[in-house]
Amino acid sequence: MKKVMNATLNLTRVGESVEVYGWIAKKRNLGGLLFIDLRDRSGIVQLVIRPESKYYALAESLKNEYVIKASGTIVERENKNLSLPSGEIEIEVEQLELLNKSLETPFEITENTTALEDTRLKYRYLDLRRKSLSEKIIMRHKIILAIRNYLDKENFIEVETPILCKSTPEGARDYLVPSRISKGSFYALPQSPQLFKQLLMVGGMERYFQIARCFRDEDLRADRQPEFTQVDIEMSFVDEEDILDMAEKLVAHIFKEIKNIDIKLPLMRMKYTDAINTYGSDKPDLRFDMPIIDITSIFAKTEISFLKSSLESGGIINCLVAKNCADKYSRKELDRLTEYVKTFKASGLAYLKYEEELTGSLSKNLSKEEKESIISDLELDKNDVVFIISDQKDIVKTALGALRCKLARELNLINEEEYKLLWVVDFPSFEWSEEENRFMATHHPFTAPKDEDIEKLLTDKANCYSKAYDIVINGYEAGGGSIRIHNEEIQEKMFKALELTEAQVKEKFGFFVDALKYGTPPHGGLAFGLDRLIMLLTNTENIRDVIAFPKTASASCLMSECPNKVDEKQLKELGIKTTEK
Ligand code: AMO
Repeated sequence: MKKVMNATLNLTRVGESVEVYGWIAKKRNLGGLLFIDLRDRSGIVQLVIRPESKYYALAESLKNEYVIKASGTIVERENKNLSLPSGEIEIEVEQLELLNKSLETPFEITENTTALEDTRLKYRYLDLRRKSLSEKIIMRHKIILAIRNYLDKENFIEVETPILCKSTPEGARDYLVPSRISKGSFYALPQSPQLFKQLLMVGGMERYFQIARCFRDEDLRADRQPEFTQVDIEMSFVDEEDILDMAEKLVAHIFKEIKNIDIKLPLMRMKYTDAINTYGSDKPDLRFDMPIIDITSIFAKTEISFLKSSLESGGIINCLVAKNCADKYSRKELDRLTEYVKTFKASGLAYLKYEEELTGSLSKNLSKEEKESIISDLELDKNDVVFIISDQKDIVKTALGALRCKLARELNLINEEEYKLLWVVDFPSFEWSEEENRFMATHHPFTAPKDEDIEKLLTDKANCYSKAYDIVINGYEAGGGSIRIHNEEIQEKMFKALELTEAQVKEKFGFFVDALKYGTPPHGGLAFGLDRLIMLLTNTENIRDVIAFPKTASASCLMSECPNKVDEKQLKELGIKTTEK
């Protein structure tokens, strides 16, 4: 008999005989009647066993998480539970079989569990029995299916690329795998299939995608895992417009299919520079307003010494206006926010409250004109707070960008049901690296510069922008990509701009650069962070919630206890000696 999904049984099936399987989620004895909540992947169905049943004693002996098989007749319930899909029926048990016992579980398998995340990670297979987690894993499957079906219909083909790769520089840290056959040599796990997908374009594949596993040994955060999944895409004979159009239609399809939400296309686009200036971030959360406002000019003639000295050393003065919350921020609360912005290297946080007049840390020293300008330029209403930071530009923008998000959360300005999507475009081609004391590629050295910036590549690197784009959803970087360089001369110029010698290029990217010389089509692509997309679609802020077997923040698996020490014999075979700390 085909196993039924327990939660799908309902009033339309009353009178039918069924066989159900599952785990005991709960057992109650009400006046002699035994009720069992039987859980399977789909959810719960209620079983009832009467005292006269020959299985009564067996039923009484059953404990939570025991695995059973029961058969019986579906009947309408007297006391309905409308919060469950099967809550209007129950099964009158006629036969009962114990399939397996279970140890007492280290935490109760219930939705509102208080178990610590570490315990749940150690017993992940038990945590997966909880609906809120299994639902997300099932949703993950549905999202991947929607993506595969859509891209197949759009004439893309899925190609798998190697996991054991050559280590190439200019990215995050690689995970390395030692070679047994070539002792002292290493494979690297792919940080992304970037080079391979470009080679597939050289190979004439034209439209490629892959649900690709990527590995990066970097500091972890709530939205980062050491191994994660990308929806990796590359296309030939396209420009930026074609890729943005294809990618946003894919995203709209996913939202429609999974959430029945209509995303209005085309998506809004914002230049990188504007995103930084107005939101202090290249992934602005646009579910709330509160832009960063430049008020440097108001203080052009300031007598306030710390502002004056900051301006003299090339700094700027920017602010945020938090509406109607002056009464919510006591001195102590404001001190807490000051400590917060200091973690982003800001030297401090000044504030002004607009009560009967302007009050707050700066107010006593403001000139009459400054006060008037602040009230009128910022269009202040009573009970508003102005948060001000004066420092070097990048510190001001980053700190106010972070404060903006913190205030929005504290003041409940975010509608959790809403989705705000946008493209951030025109990224700078180069970033200055203090560590390396040179300009580095913001993305990778194969990212095409804007046509108008090609001539500036060697002379004005700080003002070169690229055909690179990120898709941002609710403040998350959900994906990113670029048009690639397919012209040899521009590629050489780019290497020169990155101060890579011919020998270095050959050593680092030799095989790849050679391939580009054999009739490379114009091409470009992008990769979505699949785990992040799923986080957004399942409304969780924890990336571990959408991965069946995730790693902790210290990149370990508490369940299998990896990474682990290996025995000497294995190391010897690989020609490796370890140095203990
Ligand atoms: P990028 O490095 O921007 O681009 O990665 C693409 C997307 O992958 C997601 N992502 C991550 N998700 C979880 N954990 C991580 N550690 C992690 N790192 C990145 C993000 C990001 O937007 N090859 C290029 C794409 C291209 O140019 O086509 C690339 O990998 O959502």
